[in-house]
Amino acid sequence: MAPRSTRARRPPTNLAASDDLDDGRLRGHAVGTPPPPTAVLDRRSGLIGQASDIHLRGVTKRFPGTDSDAVASLSLEVPSGSIVVLIGPSGCGKTTTLRMINRLIEPTAGSITIGELDVTAVPPTELRRGIGYVIQQVGLFPHRSIRQNIATVPATLGWDKARTAARIDELAELVGLDPAMLDRYPDELSGGQQQRVGVARALAADPPVLLMDEPFGAVDPIVRGRLQDELLALQAQLRKTIVLVTHDIDEAVKLADRIALLNVGGVLEQYASPDEMLAAPANAFVEQFIGEDRGIKRLRLRTVGELPRAQGPVVDVGADLATARAAIDVEGSDWLGVTRDGAFVGWCPAEQLESAGSVAALEPTAPAAQLHPDSTLRTALELIMASNTSVAVIDDGGRFGGVVNLEHIRAGLAAPVDPVARLDGSGDADRSVGSAGSRGSGESGGVAP
Ligand SMILES: Nc1ncnc2c1ncn2[C@@H]1O[C@H](COP(=O)(O)OP(=O)(O)OP(=O)(O)O)[C@@H](O)[C@H]1O
Ligand SMILES: [Mg+2]
Repeated sequence: MAPRSTRARRPPTNLAASDDLDDGRLRGHAVGTPPPPTAVLDRRSGLIGQASDIHLRGVTKRFPGTDSDAVASLSLEVPSGSIVVLIGPSGCGKTTTLRMINRLIEPTAGSITIGELDVTAVPPTELRRGIGYVIQQVGLFPHRSIRQNIATVPATLGWDKARTAARIDELAELVGLDPAMLDRYPDELSGGQQQRVGVARALAADPPVLLMDEPFGAVDPIVRGRLQDELLALQAQLRKTIVLVTHDIDEAVKLADRIALLNVGGVLEQYASPDEMLAAPANAFVEQFIGEDRGIKRLRLRTVGELPRAQGPVVDVGADLATARAAIDVEGSDWLGVTRDGAFVGWCPAEQLESAGSVAALEPTAPAAQLHPDSTLRTALELIMASNTSVAVIDDGGRFGGVVNLEHIRAGLAAPVDPVARLDGSGDADRSVGSAGSRGSGESGGVAP
């Protein structure tokens, strides 16, 4: 898994370009044209097409008849187009927080805005058409077919049959649901299939905001991992603003741009990128919650592309003998690496240099192990330990990008994390070399034949 900084970062999709939520009242608005103020209520300006960052300010919920807050003065900013994961012990107020965002629960105090829109200023039913909601335990309507379940919001928006049918087909494809399932009922589907339907239903009207309450809670770990990968792939394409609840710290680390760790009473213990939280837990509660293996978890989160690297004992095929000898001496290496036009050709034993008489006369062999800029540090650690030496970094085009060793991994993990740079992707030092990795694919850079 590569971290979010190596993902292809595209500007958020301008959802105004889609007419999926258009109920007729706003037809004719050009993309980017500010709609009239009342259009906020029509799901076009505050929610659609504009920034859909979510701001919670001092949000509090005390349920009637209780003597303590379920959520106490919670302030949180969810950047547009990012995934924020709410995590914390059972009963700490995760679901309550989510439901206050779409006003299934009314806050006792505080304010919530989405983009410019104060959510309390919008009739709840209108609001919810712009916010997809994946309910804890999936919550499909048991007596409605899958098709009818997915069409829930389009039906309330009055879409015609053809448009709804086309959208359902599109969504089935998008979430990987076999179209044969569409005319079944929820209890005729597996847990994983039901989860997919839950996601499809939430996405039906292409809302800019998605609230997902333990969306993968009810499936086995393998299906869960696959659904997580698919969510990341979807998100790379759709760029929704997502608030996702989970109990599972590994899921949080894998999916989140930022993690909000809540304690009982909705108290925010830390709000940080996964790497930041793993590297520097804010307090003992956070440290205990994320577990003892947080160093190992970080290795999965960081990539080789982010590391400082060395040139290593590697020279161009046209280098003269003195240059090659110097490269070997500097590194004290038993090996000499050769590149041609920037592409890595291979390694030869350093001792062969003298008998060959020139770098060009050497016959390098392709590396047994190589790393890709998107390889995780976990992969890097494994290869470095196995080969007991530095490992070359080679990108998709075969270009040589330096070598890494244990010291580089140590230095990379010690480097301070810039959460903002990581969020917008500008913190990746190696973007020119790296390919556009997705978070699901980072382990792919392993050993070459
Ligand atoms: N309608 C309600 N009336 C009174 N108390 C409630 C109500 N709904 C939730 N609570 C309480 O508010 C607290 C937070 O509940 P919430 O459902 O938000 O927890 P959660 O973090 O989602 O938990 P879980 O991980 O178990 O789903 C709990 O103590 C719960 O008992
Ligand atoms: Mg809950």
